[in-house]
Amino acid sequence: MQSAVDTLDAKTSSFGTQRHMITVRRPEFNFDELPKYYFNNNPLISHLLTALSLTFPNGERFFVHSVRNVRDQVKTKKLQADVSAFIGQEAMHSHAHEDFNDFAKRIGLDVQPIIDDEHDKVEKIKGILSNKQKLAVTCALEHFTAIIAQYLLENKDFHSQLHPEAARLWMWHALEETEHKAVAFDVYKEVFNDEVVRKRTMRIITTTFLSRISFITAKLLLSDKNGRKQWKQHWIAMQQLSQLAKSLLPAYLDYYKQDFHPDQHDSDAVAEKWRNTLFVV
Ligand SMILES: [Fe+2]
Ligand SMILES: [Fe+2]
Repeated sequence: MQSAVDTLDAKTSSFGTQRHMITVRRPEFNFDELPKYYFNNNPLISHLLTALSLTFPNGERFFVHSVRNVRDQVKTKKLQADVSAFIGQEAMHSHAHEDFNDFAKRIGLDVQPIIDDEHDKVEKIKGILSNKQKLAVTCALEHFTAIIAQYLLENKDFHSQLHPEAARLWMWHALEETEHKAVAFDVYKEVFNDEVVRKRTMRIITTTFLSRISFITAKLLLSDKNGRKQWKQHWIAMQQLSQLAKSLLPAYLDYYKQDFHPDQHDSDAVAEKWRNTLFVV
């Protein structure tokens, strides 16, 4: 499954964690056999994950755009190399989630207007925000993806409910989000280092990201005649999601600390475990 094309040296971060190698991989996926409710036959959580996937291709291209804008201002050699790997990983995620979004189309979900809308919103933001604001947006969203990814990697009760092929996609993506979680942040610190904008942007992104994902999930669920009536499954989903939110809250709040750095959330052991699980040849 693994095709590593770019492996960079590991180093120890200032927080004592082993700064992992950032490897660009090109796994192949086949979603032909994926059931509509690929998360344990649960419509709400399946649609929630699909909602996230629908935002990824345009969102991750925006991340790449925001980092690429300022990469020539990065002086640290290791960080320059990390930026290249970050761009490579996010580009692969965009491609894989486009394939996944094609699966959503094949099962009859009306997702193209949502994807088009995402594209228009991202293009608009690109035209309005400064390079600093764009990178602060990326840092905020990368914090969300990193803490969700770590939860997914660590909680077997959650990830074991995914259909195996969906699990391969989500766990690969989760692993790489933990591998590159500090890259945009380190670039922001080196180039701008504006704590006020960093924290203010997180407050704005928290509202817009959560409301956008909730809106898309609700849209998918309401347009799904069979799925929307499964009240027992909705109850189970709400319990699992409230557990997830409770678990993520402290890690989310850490972002507002003055000395926050993504490496303070130690994901070395779990990332190593998943590298061995997914990519041992
Ligand atoms: Fe990604
Ligand atoms: Fe990322």
